[in-house]
Amino acid sequence: MTAVGIDAVEIWTGNLELDLPGTFAPQKGEDPEKYTKGLGLYASSFPDSYEDIVTMGANAAHRLMERKGLETDDIGRIDVATESAFDNSKPVSTYVAGCLEQVFEGDFHHANKGERKFACIAGTQSLDDACNWIRAGRNRGRAALVIATDTALYARGDAGEATQGAGAVAMLIDEDPDLVELSTEQGYGSADETDFLKPNQQFPSVDGKRSVQVYLARMREALEDYESVAGDVHVDDVAYAPFHTPFPGMVRKAALLAYRHIVRDTTIEDELADEIGRQPRPEAFDDDEAYRDALREYMDELKETDRYQEWYAETIDPTLTVSRNVGNWYTGSVHVARVSALKHALDEGRDMTGETMLIGSYGSGAQAEIHAETVCDGWEEEIEALNVDAQIEERYDLEWEDYEEIHDAHNHDVDSDVEELTTPEGEFVFDGWGRMGERK
Ligand code: HMG
Repeated sequence: MTAVGIDAVEIWTGNLELDLPGTFAPQKGEDPEKYTKGLGLYASSFPDSYEDIVTMGANAAHRLMERKGLETDDIGRIDVATESAFDNSKPVSTYVAGCLEQVFEGDFHHANKGERKFACIAGTQSLDDACNWIRAGRNRGRAALVIATDTALYARGDAGEATQGAGAVAMLIDEDPDLVELSTEQGYGSADETDFLKPNQQFPSVDGKRSVQVYLARMREALEDYESVAGDVHVDDVAYAPFHTPFPGMVRKAALLAYRHIVRDTTIEDELADEIGRQPRPEAFDDDEAYRDALREYMDELKETDRYQEWYAETIDPTLTVSRNVGNWYTGSVHVARVSALKHALDEGRDMTGETMLIGSYGSGAQAEIHAETVCDGWEEEIEALNVDAQIEERYDLEWEDYEEIHDAHNHDVDSDVEELTTPEGEFVFDGWGRMGERK
């Protein structure tokens, strides 16, 4: 079967930044270490007043098409994944295509366009759809453009305010990809949940503590389901495990759960049990509370073992570097984690060709998906071409008053005429309805 996967990727961050330990924590009267150590976050990206999901998505896609020397005729499908859509009829991909048509010759009249929604997992679902479209032979030699774009804002004063972010990831999906090939096997954990939702409202209603538990429960189910089709995952076979990262502290919890799951029934588990001096599976199965307490104690000790900490430092921590500085990008988040891991490999001079990554996607509502990816031999050139560090570095650092004004500017319920804080340079800008996506 022909290899299908991600041929190229580009990232576009919102042009502003909110310093969490330096600006947010003092304003909230909180210890900065709650953010840096607890949540694992240093900064969030924010959109300037002229940025939104269309401009960020179009800017990422424009960079990608220009770098790969693509024309409109090379793209047969444009899917946008977002949970920040403003139009209940026209998909955001039509707005993005309109922007790109201002710059590239020809148009996208031949392209199938759509919009995917299932909270943050929609980015991965669009990726799966694009791969399946190609595998089914319906692409007529053309590639697909998948764009995950969100302004992940919470109401001011909501606990989620610390985990905001804004940015877009554009991915080119094609046969014989240069970056990663996707496995045909996926595992799912899916259930009707109401811990995070936006019924006719811009900012989410969130039960934050419960959302963490729901994420973990669905991820465990997805892992089990994945192993039921793809066979047991072996811990030494996974080079990196990029997970959906609403904030790095969430992935710290998910990684421990995943590790315990994949070393289960192996000699590693026996060795760890010896080191900890405790059985991995407590025996009090007839008493739920005692079982949960014993399991919690085992997990707390497992987390402190050298063996686990080494695995975490090599396999998980490198996936979090970018996220620590940009916050939650909802649909783009797991795709940022993949880039972060491969950037780390590039910096370390590690040869990743042929290596496996285990991708854990998640969306509230709720669904998790696990699939594997094999790194392809063009990965270094693709990752070298990215300018993520420069984009992060060049963001405008928001003072608290700026932050409040910009938050209002993006709040559909507030009338705001805030001035832009940065000057757009060669990028699409939102300049009022009807003038969407003008390039400045
Ligand atoms: P909170 O109540 O403000 O924070 O909200 P906390 O008190 O739970 O503290 C957070 C962590 O910092 C804790 O660590 C504290 O111990 C630690 P943990 O016990 O969890 O390991 N901490 C400190 N550490 C060091 N020094 C200190 C200190 N103080 C505290 N001084 C919460 C946290 C996540 C609930 C909130 O930010 C929130 O509601 N976020 C939004 C919801 C969210 O992101 N949920 C994640 C799972 S759901 C998901 O991923 C889907 C999503 O992306 C959307 C989608 O799919 O569409 C959100």
